[in-house]
Amino acid sequence: QVAESLHIINGFAQKYFAEQLWQTQEGEAVAQSYLEERGFRREISEKFQLGYSPQNRHSFVTAALQKQYNAELLVKTGLVVNRNEELLDNYRGRIIFPIHNNTGKVIGFGARVIGKAEKVPKYINTPENEIYVKSRILYGAYFARQSIDKQDECLLVEGYTDVISLHQAGIENVVASGGTSLTTDQLRIIKKYTNNLTIIYDGDSAGIKAALRGLDMALEESLNVKLVLIPDKEDPDSYVNKVGANAFREFVAEHKKDFILFQLEIMLKDAGNDVSRKNDVVNQIAETLSKINKTEDFTKQQEYIRQCSGILRIDETGLTTLVNKYK
Ligand code: UTP
Ligand code: MN
Ligand code: MN
Ligand code: MN
Ligand code: MN
Repeated sequence: QVAESLHIINGFAQKYFAEQLWQTQEGEAVAQSYLEERGFRREISEKFQLGYSPQNRHSFVTAALQKQYNAELLVKTGLVVNRNEELLDNYRGRIIFPIHNNTGKVIGFGARVIGKAEKVPKYINTPENEIYVKSRILYGAYFARQSIDKQDECLLVEGYTDVISLHQAGIENVVASGGTSLTTDQLRIIKKYTNNLTIIYDGDSAGIKAALRGLDMALEESLNVKLVLIPDKEDPDSYVNKVGANAFREFVAEHKKDFILFQLEIMLKDAGNDVSRKNDVVNQIAETLSKINKTEDFTKQQEYIRQCSGILRIDETGLTTLVNKYK
């Protein structure tokens, strides 16, 4: 009941914001030009149903109340806030990214400031409600589904704009985690589509850490995980815009690393020649390998034990014993 009403309000809002983007002077001057500058063509902005929320803090709420939508529900969607009994728009002067569920209904929004975020959050997102459950949201999944099936692979990026720019470059099997660290629910949704997950994150230390945090969870869900790190200060959106679609594809193909071996590599590099730290690495990797679902992926686990013991230059049966001690 409440869920249905929230869907209806979000649907109305999506259309309202799209109209503001494409059919008003303010939208043209402020928002269309921003999207153009970033390299989004109109076709792709329309596909993802992007919109614009005007500066005027009464614009959406006035339209919504005219449609007789319930004030409490409007607040619940996060589109409207109640400030001392005055209803105001929550998103003002922002680009609106609708977020769709797997049937294509709008369940929430990300709203980005235009230009640099100074003293305001760059994105404002929908608060948790009956239909917007953050831990289960994979931005872009609705648009990626067919391509994931066809490629039997799902690419995972951080942000809304990464998904959209990759689509524009013809890479459609891509979803975004929304900046937060991956959840088990998100991984289970991916697992329903494919067993092959390729994480494409920023190459900075925050990106690497975020990726590594997801690894053990992904292994427990029996996903085959590969990792691609985007160089320098780029993210997939900026990088594909910089080098073009073909070079981006080549980069991904050439830099796809097996995630477990990648983890081992960076841990070993950190440990250097310190014997006790190398011992920690052995334990860490044994714990990670123990997460590989044995009933489903026994051969895979054995193969990793073989490769890892080779890299570590330790005895294979010794590592097997250690792996079995975890779990
Ligand atoms: P980024 O800071 O990498 O933003 O955050 P972005 O996706 O590259 O966006 P642009 O290119 O600057 O427009 C990655 C993701 O983290 C979430 C958003 O989902 C964003 O896409 N995020 C980021 C927030 O929810 N709030 C923020 O203030 C910042
Ligand atoms: Mn980063
Ligand atoms: Mn980032
Ligand atoms: Mn980014
Ligand atoms: Mn970006």
